[in-house]
Amino acid sequence: MTQIQHAHGTRASDSAEPAPWWRQAVVYQIYPRSFADADGDGLGDIAGITSRADYLSALGVDAVWLSPFYPSALADGGYDVADHRDVDPRLGTLDDFDTMLAALHARGIKVVVDIVPNHCSDQHVWFQEALRAGRGSPERERFVFREGTGPGGEHPPTDWLSAFGGPAWHRVADGQWYLHHFAPEQPDLNWDHPDWREDFVRTLRFWSDRGVDGFRVDVAHMLTKDLTEPLPSQAELDAMPKDGLHRTIDRDDVHDVYAQWREVFNSYDPPRTAVAEAWVSSDRIPLYASETSLGQAFNFDLLIADFDAEQFRRVVTHNLELAGRTRSSSTWVLSNHDVVRHATRYGLPAPERRPDGEPAVKHGMEWLRSGGTDPRLDRDLGGRRARAATLFMLGLPGSSYLYQGEELGLHEVADISDGERQDPSFFRSGGEDVGRDGCRVPLPWSREGVALGFGEASPHLPQPSWMADHAVEQQSGVPGSTLELYRRALARRREWQCDEDLEWLPTGREDVLHYRRPNGWEVVTVFGDADHAVSRPVALLSSDDAVGSRVVPPQTTAWIAPSRTD
Ligand code: NOJ
Repeated sequence: MTQIQHAHGTRASDSAEPAPWWRQAVVYQIYPRSFADADGDGLGDIAGITSRADYLSALGVDAVWLSPFYPSALADGGYDVADHRDVDPRLGTLDDFDTMLAALHARGIKVVVDIVPNHCSDQHVWFQEALRAGRGSPERERFVFREGTGPGGEHPPTDWLSAFGGPAWHRVADGQWYLHHFAPEQPDLNWDHPDWREDFVRTLRFWSDRGVDGFRVDVAHMLTKDLTEPLPSQAELDAMPKDGLHRTIDRDDVHDVYAQWREVFNSYDPPRTAVAEAWVSSDRIPLYASETSLGQAFNFDLLIADFDAEQFRRVVTHNLELAGRTRSSSTWVLSNHDVVRHATRYGLPAPERRPDGEPAVKHGMEWLRSGGTDPRLDRDLGGRRARAATLFMLGLPGSSYLYQGEELGLHEVADISDGERQDPSFFRSGGEDVGRDGCRVPLPWSREGVALGFGEASPHLPQPSWMADHAVEQQSGVPGSTLELYRRALARRREWQCDEDLEWLPTGREDVLHYRRPNGWEVVTVFGDADHAVSRPVALLSSDDAVGSRVVPPQTTAWIAPSRTD
């Protein structure tokens, strides 16, 4: 039986126009408060990003995506936005932002910013007005206020649960309750209200006019809600089909919002781009990725897969097929600011899986709860597999999203004391969920110094001593280091641009995947424990610096250049 399959993605060369930059870009996610601290207050800032523009350029990324840098009380790491059209004064000013944008653009790096439309901060001026204006006021209409149930309305309107644990309703001083799908400091917006529709268009124009190239749309599947009475219970919500008519999630009418945004994006030259963070079933992803909606959507399938040949192959084939249903390209992600870093996930026992394939519990949670001692993490194995998975991903058609620090082979930080934790999931779950701080620890730039080169002050989250071994300074120019592997891979990939197709080749082994791109480059990944022979010399190997051999070692990806006769 032949193992050859073709994915029928949109071809980069379908038209005479060059393919838009985002279709096969490498996008590097910056978590600004933990990237580089230029003003020495322990918190990363915009000027810190500017100071590292040369680093980003040498790394070879096509774009950066900035997690929120807006004014915020930091109840959720900046995803509680108090003003969508300004910079947090602790991170800088709009002038600093313009300087950063110019520095990155001068190096050919695009800039994508995070937009958070499901909720805002309880410090947002409209929410503060709503609190003052009282029940029944037009100001409260912009949010989701309801009377409580029970004697004196002392119980929430429904038993809905928030994503960070605890009830999804919070009671204000006059006795009314408001809806917050995330932390209480993040009131949900009422998207039936024209003020938000106008305000977000203003925000998109504000950043687009400054020269921003695109937007990452936070929880893009949650904005619109059908809140007609009676409201269903949590059990009823859970039982409803997610078919576009669910009361609170992934409703078809959210695309009316994005159709309006699309007009804004397309009014610029080049059109501004958007990528949806939508945790929806994969058959609904194309709606977000369509040309009339946001244009591209994350798929998190590789991120939740084990380091396993069969799972990786299934994920790739399925997502290329999905991308082919729209005129979009696929996206690939292994790590971001919400999950345990992939070097650590791959060094821990594989998680138990639910019938739908998702991890039964957050992968790495037991190890995190133990402060990093139980079960034991095999750091070397995790790092080796992570480099192999990354090189496998970077060869695929579509765009790859990298998370700051993965190019240094960073592991999750487990030993953060309760008093130093910041993530609301930790506080709202009473410590049951340790939270996401472990992947948000400031980057190590040098071996020495109070913050390992991150800045001059002690960093806002503690850096363990092992981070020094991963410092940029430690790895730069060192053959075989993870940083040099990323640099070499990204440099090669830039030479590669080609149609968005992929052909699987037979390997004769269940634990080895082999694919070829239309330009003749081939990628071979050995997931298992035995060497695998290939017929041509390898040009790049994820596990060491040796090139030219015809053997791919265990837990390793090889890139093989086109043969001269191709
Ligand atoms: C998704 C973001 O990635 C996450 O960090 C945040 O907590 C939630 N959305 C709420 O904004």
